[in-house]
Amino acid sequence: MGAHTKASTRGTVRKFKVWRGDAQGGSLEDFEVEVNEGEVVLDIIHRLQATQAPDLAVRWNCKAGKCGSCSMEINGKPRLGCMTRMASFEPDEVVTVTPLRTFPVIRDLVTDVSFNYEKARETPAFAPPPGVPGRDYRMQQVDVERSQEFRKCIECFLCQNTCHVVRDHEENKEAFAGPRYFIRAAELDMHPLDVRTDRKEYAQNEQGLGFCNITKCCTEVCPEHIKITDNGIIPMKERVVDRRFDPIVFLGRKIFRRPEGEGTAPTTATYSSPTWTHHAGEPQPLAAAVGEDGRMPITEITFDRAGAASPFGDDIEFPVDPKSLRYNHPEGVPPTDEVPHPGTGATPDVQG
Ligand code: SF4
Ligand code: SF4
Ligand code: FES
Repeated sequence: MGAHTKASTRGTVRKFKVWRGDAQGGSLEDFEVEVNEGEVVLDIIHRLQATQAPDLAVRWNCKAGKCGSCSMEINGKPRLGCMTRMASFEPDEVVTVTPLRTFPVIRDLVTDVSFNYEKARETPAFAPPPGVPGRDYRMQQVDVERSQEFRKCIECFLCQNTCHVVRDHEENKEAFAGPRYFIRAAELDMHPLDVRTDRKEYAQNEQGLGFCNITKCCTEVCPEHIKITDNGIIPMKERVVDRRFDPIVFLGRKIFRRPEGEGTAPTTATYSSPTWTHHAGEPQPLAAAVGEDGRMPITEITFDRAGAASPFGDDIEFPVDPKSLRYNHPEGVPPTDEVPHPGTGATPDVQG
């Protein structure tokens, strides 16, 4: 029994190729390193740092698949180093570790992923209804569940790295936000408390949703198993098409469009998709923004907007100046150094 235990835990020497270099260039370096039972690729990188390459750069934090830091390409596939078990390779397989290809290399396995943070900053923040205290923000469980899948995102950017729209075309980066931010737009579009009603148009016009040809590569690499394409991108594309190109929708919006500024916000309300009651006086859809079949119900075609007017006004231009955004809870102490919002000149509460 004792002999068996010793044999099963003894390390074996395995072959690795690790990319070393910086923005000026680099190459794959060969290593032979001990691998023990139960270890993951990040363990081996750490052993290399401890024994053979103390200056090998790698980004990591949690070693538990939750911080999204240790994204790298392992045998050509975008993966988390801390969640890739050595046991998943053949015993004699050479394991090749390279940095993410879509983002500029800083050094070795560390890349500059600030492209993603720029896209995050451009995405308009969650905007709750104006004039309603936070204690009255209520959602039915069905609404929570619709967007909960997208909240699992750990921002590892493996999907961003994989998407061929930017992986193969650096020039597309300016006009393309990428799958991680498409699901953020989808999440907010499904959120019954988000009164900004331009998520679909924003995704199409500003995020470059039209570039996506639903290859599903992003979904394949997501370590959180978020169905990025099926549950986020495709429903958003369908809603954009419904709004823009259905002639009945077009006519309905023209005929039933109401003047701006009508209606007042109630003091209390219950929020749920079947009965949106949070903007008394505003034209209200009577059913969910998206039906069980994933399509907009008939009410959507008769009203110009699903919720109230945007607290920023309809003439707002994106990206919004970050200085104009407020992240104070509506019940908190009002900020004293008010900065006027673009569009309205008002200073509504905005919760991030
Ligand atoms: S499905 Fe769209 S976003 Fe995802 S990888 Fe393909 S093109 Fe990119
Ligand atoms: S959607 Fe998935 S792959 Fe993309 S950043 Fe989030 S967790 Fe990573
Ligand atoms: S170290 Fe946090 S996800 Fe890998």
